[in-house]
Amino acid sequence: MVTLGIESSCDETSVALLRDGVVLSSLTHSQGEHALYGGVVPEVASRAHLEKIDGLARRVMEEAGIVPSGIDLIAVTDSPGLAGALLVGVSFALGMHAAHGIPVTGVNHLEGHICSLFIDNGGRQSAGPLLVLLASGGHTAVYKYASFGDCELLGCTVDDAAGEAFDKVGKLLGFPYPAGRAIEEEAAKAESSKRPEITFPVARFSSPGKPCCFSFSGLKTAVKNFILSKGEDYINNNRPALCSAFQKAVVDSLAGNMEAAARSLGIKTAAAAGGVACNGFLREELARRFGEGNVFFPRPSLCTDNGAMIAMAGQMMRQNSRLRFPSMDPGRGI
Ligand code: KG4
Ligand code: ZN
Repeated sequence: MVTLGIESSCDETSVALLRDGVVLSSLTHSQGEHALYGGVVPEVASRAHLEKIDGLARRVMEEAGIVPSGIDLIAVTDSPGLAGALLVGVSFALGMHAAHGIPVTGVNHLEGHICSLFIDNGGRQSAGPLLVLLASGGHTAVYKYASFGDCELLGCTVDDAAGEAFDKVGKLLGFPYPAGRAIEEEAAKAESSKRPEITFPVARFSSPGKPCCFSFSGLKTAVKNFILSKGEDYINNNRPALCSAFQKAVVDSLAGNMEAAARSLGIKTAAAAGGVACNGFLREELARRFGEGNVFFPRPSLCTDNGAMIAMAGQMMRQNSRLRFPSMDPGRGI
């Protein structure tokens, strides 16, 4: 089964072709325009999607050697996301549907991130429930994933997402948007022997009603106050140590909640998806707590927003008789 996946919910225009859970071709255009503003500007995003989507779709089909009549399903992100940005992808998908008579389904972006876990496995799913961390620029949540369609939200952030924290702290430190990767690279330069002792606090939830909740806005304020109190020279001389302390605080919170949830539910296998799951320090920490063979991740290009994960979700929706006509709902969760 060949599925065309289209993703345009935020600042990545991405189109991919999958055959039975295996990527045939995949192209992503990351919109550099937003670096100028330090964050995503919705109207700029919509216009950039409009400029790129047609060319990306043509090239993806060329690279895979597939023509529209060879496509069995079009899967397009229709929620959640920026309204104008979603509209571009959905309109393009409906245009192809109308022109070529290819069945089309709307896909929830968060479900897409979770389905990215199954792409490298060729569509096979692990046995038993899986504890999934979804950490991106827009969302941070923990799910108990039993099977497709049986995915329970255990907790999420009450304010900023983990990736948003990376981006906001990056902005304070002068890194261009998005800053997650740059912070990780800067943190890697910190030599543990020489680095000053910097630690940042992270909110913990002890109430039983919030087993896996996160909060990162206080951490951002703590970093901001630290920068103001130390002054420019100190920050310029200790940027790697500062990035390392910030990264550690975020990763401790993410991995700590995952470990606590796994223990209380008796789940042995974990996974992480979303842009923040590119982070090597987070991967190492989850592997340390769960054991090397008990945790898995999509490859980095499938962690950040991409059309392949949307195609994978579409394929799984079809296999589970859950196809639905796209209906834009920018605020819908899973
Ligand atoms: O999944 P994604 O592409 O978009 C959303 O759905 O939000 O995630 C983008 C986020 C950004 O906040 C970016 O800074 C973060 O993922 N990110 C990282 C890394 N690479 C990307 N955060 C930490 N470490 C990284 N290596
Ligand atoms: Zn995303």
